[in-house]
Amino acid sequence: MTTILLLSGPNLDRLGERSPEIYGTMTLAEHVDRFTQLAASYAYDVRHRQSNFEGDLIEEIAGARDAAAIVINAGALTHTSWALADALGAFAGVSIEVHLSNPAAREPFRHTSTLAPVVAGSIAGFGGLSYELAVEAVRRLLSNGA
Ligand code: DQA
Repeated sequence: MTTILLLSGPNLDRLGERSPEIYGTMTLAEHVDRFTQLAASYAYDVRHRQSNFEGDLIEEIAGARDAAAIVINAGALTHTSWALADALGAFAGVSIEVHLSNPAAREPFRHTSTLAPVVAGSIAGFGGLSYELAVEAVRRLLSNGA
């Protein structure tokens, strides 16, 4: 079975209670559930990891040799972590950046993504739909390359 590694960075474990006016009321478990169900309908297996620690996420990426794709919401590490970008850049499969909110429409520090140069593309601003669109993107990229 083809595996997608779904990674969630700092503070995403608090979704549901954290700034619901920005991130909505769904919990991370609910987002992961929807993502996993949609992925399963395309016969993809999903492994999800959440961590508040940069090094944990880097190790997950480095150890993801079995995964065909990585979908990552790196939280605020998106805007700061060159180490995460290096790890993703060394991943041989498809990688996609996801955000619930639209960082480009928020504070200036959120306008830079260190991950943007190394991922196939970024999906942002659609709330929970961002995750579902990421599954669709993975499917297209793995099946057609486009
Ligand atoms: C986020 C956007 C980031 O700027 C922020 O730090 C997050 C969540 C999003 O999903 O909209 O933690 O990645």
